[in-house]
Amino acid sequence: MKIAIDRRDASAADVEVVVSGLPERAEGDAPLPKAAAADDLLVGGLLAAAWGRKELSGRRKEVTTIHRPDGRGRLTLVGLGPRGAADVETVRRAAAEAVKALKGRAATRVGFRLSSFSVPRIPPEEVAAAIAEGALLGGYEFTRYRPPKESSVEEATIFLGKEHAGRSRSVARSVDRTRTLADVVRWTRDIANLPADTATPERLAEEARALGKELGLKVTVHDEKELAKMNCGGLLGVGSGSSHPPRLVVLEYPGRRGAKRTVAVVGKGITFDSGGISIKPSMHLSDMKFDKSGAVAVLGILRAAALLKVAPRVVGVLACAENLPSGHAYRPGDVLTTYNGKTIEVLNTDAEGRVVLADALGYVVDRHHPDVVIDLATLTGACVVALGDDTGGLMTTDDRLARALATAASESGEPVWRLPLTDYHRELVKSEVADVRNSTEMPPAGALTAAAFLETFVGRNVPWAHLDIAGPAWTNGGTRKYQPSYQPAGATAFGVRLVTRYLENGAA
Ligand code: BES
Ligand code: ZN
Ligand code: ZN
Repeated sequence: MKIAIDRRDASAADVEVVVSGLPERAEGDAPLPKAAAADDLLVGGLLAAAWGRKELSGRRKEVTTIHRPDGRGRLTLVGLGPRGAADVETVRRAAAEAVKALKGRAATRVGFRLSSFSVPRIPPEEVAAAIAEGALLGGYEFTRYRPPKESSVEEATIFLGKEHAGRSRSVARSVDRTRTLADVVRWTRDIANLPADTATPERLAEEARALGKELGLKVTVHDEKELAKMNCGGLLGVGSGSSHPPRLVVLEYPGRRGAKRTVAVVGKGITFDSGGISIKPSMHLSDMKFDKSGAVAVLGILRAAALLKVAPRVVGVLACAENLPSGHAYRPGDVLTTYNGKTIEVLNTDAEGRVVLADALGYVVDRHHPDVVIDLATLTGACVVALGDDTGGLMTTDDRLARALATAASESGEPVWRLPLTDYHRELVKSEVADVRNSTEMPPAGALTAAAFLETFVGRNVPWAHLDIAGPAWTNGGTRKYQPSYQPAGATAFGVRLVTRYLENGAA
């Protein structure tokens, strides 16, 4: 989808559909909001008439199309909800809803009227960016295995009109950044949506190599032989049941000249999680092709970092393996020795994410001396129980890092919520026979004991945050209607916008 900026008023445009936001009716007989006057003019008073008859209300998710009596196309109105409650996220969702509603409706060129989406106290640069982001992400379809819907928006133009024409340069700059980021998110979703027969650990390594070549990043791939030399017993253990051997993939973005900080971003890359010998029930098992979402998000973050030229140096690490049962598989009771020498008692082969991350975290701390480590992992069902599927769990003992990530979360539209990590959880992961055990056999605080396990491999000297993205990494039928409209079914690439914003903010 192309995104353009036009200084004119949307009414002057040669587009098939003008898209406008419509604030919600305040009380019973409130007249058509002033902001909609230009739209009413466009359709010769039909909008005010429909409003008066209460055929539309401006409620969120309400999409109404009115044909222009002059025969020059249509006006599509998308509800913004109560005026006082609107924010940037409201605009993202509204733009996505419009684009989705117009699929298959002979609308390839549409124009958004910027002024109709304006939000109190938010500069037009941000509103325009939110329109572009919502349109690009909401219009996403995974089309590798079937043709696209018959028609979809190909070109979205944001019309500034006389209110905002004077700021066209700054609006263009802001939209440009967001288009780059949204394109990265779409690219990331394309990889995360690949099924496990295609997206093997080796394939993820190839994607990293191709990315490195395209953008000039250094890429190192450690195959199973090297993993054995480096004592990466976690990756090798988890991967041992699969005929697709594990990979540890490292990408390096050097940062802007004189970069002072190094941020390590580490992702769980289980290309399929059957549970292994501790096998999962078959219900929704196909969802476990998304268990690589953390690692794929790391690819996206590196791509965004390089394209947007963020200041800090960024090291991305993908811990890739497939978790299957077989005669070669690792088993409950096994003890694995990891990169930094620490040992893991395996009590449940389905708690495999923390096991592969153990090697990746130990490796990156030892080899790259990062100032900050952030890991992303679809780690626990417990986190989904705690927070639902729209919010990621944030676990860290570093308050500064927690604040920086919370800020980036609210700015990016990818919410996270902090959960505790204390000695209680550290105690629970201690093992009788090894340094740590990968499962506590008892249900309480599953997301938090997983974090305590990971902390063992980072140590307490490096600021580190763990993002459990098991909930928001993908959406499916059951919960899709509660998810933001710009996250169609399948992989969301959750974490890319959040961590990129954190890097853009200077990685505090
Ligand atoms: N990949 C799963 C976590 C998961 C579950 C993500 C559901 C998304 C939806 C992870 O490897 C896993 O199986 N975790 C176990 C841990 C337990 C065995 C300690 C879980 O959450 O049940
Ligand atoms: Zn598992
Ligand atoms: Zn898993």
